[in-house]
Amino acid sequence: MPPKKRRIVALTGAGISAESGLGTFRDKGGLWDEHDINEVATPEAWNKNPKLVLEFYDKRRELCVKAKPNEAHFALAKLEKHFDVHVITQNIDDLHERAGSKNILHLHGEILKARSVNDPEKLYHIGGKRIKLGDLAPDGHQMRPHVVWFGEAVPKMYEAEDIVREADIFIVIGTSLNVYPAANLIYASAANIPKYIVDLNELTNVKYKNLTHLKGKASERLPELVDTLIKDLNNTK
Ligand code: OAD
Repeated sequence: MPPKKRRIVALTGAGISAESGLGTFRDKGGLWDEHDINEVATPEAWNKNPKLVLEFYDKRRELCVKAKPNEAHFALAKLEKHFDVHVITQNIDDLHERAGSKNILHLHGEILKARSVNDPEKLYHIGGKRIKLGDLAPDGHQMRPHVVWFGEAVPKMYEAEDIVREADIFIVIGTSLNVYPAANLIYASAANIPKYIVDLNELTNVKYKNLTHLKGKASERLPELVDTLIKDLNNTK
């Protein structure tokens, strides 16, 4: 039997897709500068003005379909040849999938999927199609995007924590770590393992043992880190 590969868990956020042309949320000019969260990304917003909510996510879907994975997405996929890689993403785009990563957990849903307002379990792949008011799921209820809104539970969180607990290396990429419970995942990793944060900004609010901040663009710093991790692995063989 080949030796068990070491586990790398990568927690990704909007910053990893920024260089693919998808806007982040909290950077200057980001999505939450242009849109009010309470108008487009909560159950209350849906009850008040579902058309506006659908249009907001139609736009996200349209941009996602046009975007292409960048060097950071490809670097994570490349790691899989050498490590047992698990990508936990807050992103609703499919750029990790298109870059070739295999183990991907979408904490906040997937924009290319829809579901009935009455059934969170059954998902429908809609690709680039819009969702309109009156588009019904087979159960007769209105379709909605398969995304987690503020105020909703994050059903995949327990699975994500289980994955992180077994990590030998933990990498955080392009997330401001402002949104919970995702922001707490780093603390589910073992204190003694190496941890890295790749981000344009140094996230000074995050303090944990064995944590290295790699400041810069994900498309540059992540491929560098990946090459170092592969080199170090080969040196220990
Ligand atoms: P944010 O917009 O909060 O944070 C983006 C992070 O990416 C920031 O720390 C930036 O410094 C960094 N960044 C930007 N461009 C970068 C680049 N080229 N290379 C490296 N880093 C870069 O986005 P998230 O943390 O992903 O949830 O937001 C988390 C959640 O908040 C989202 O999943 C979404 C949002 O509201 C929901 O809608 C439920």
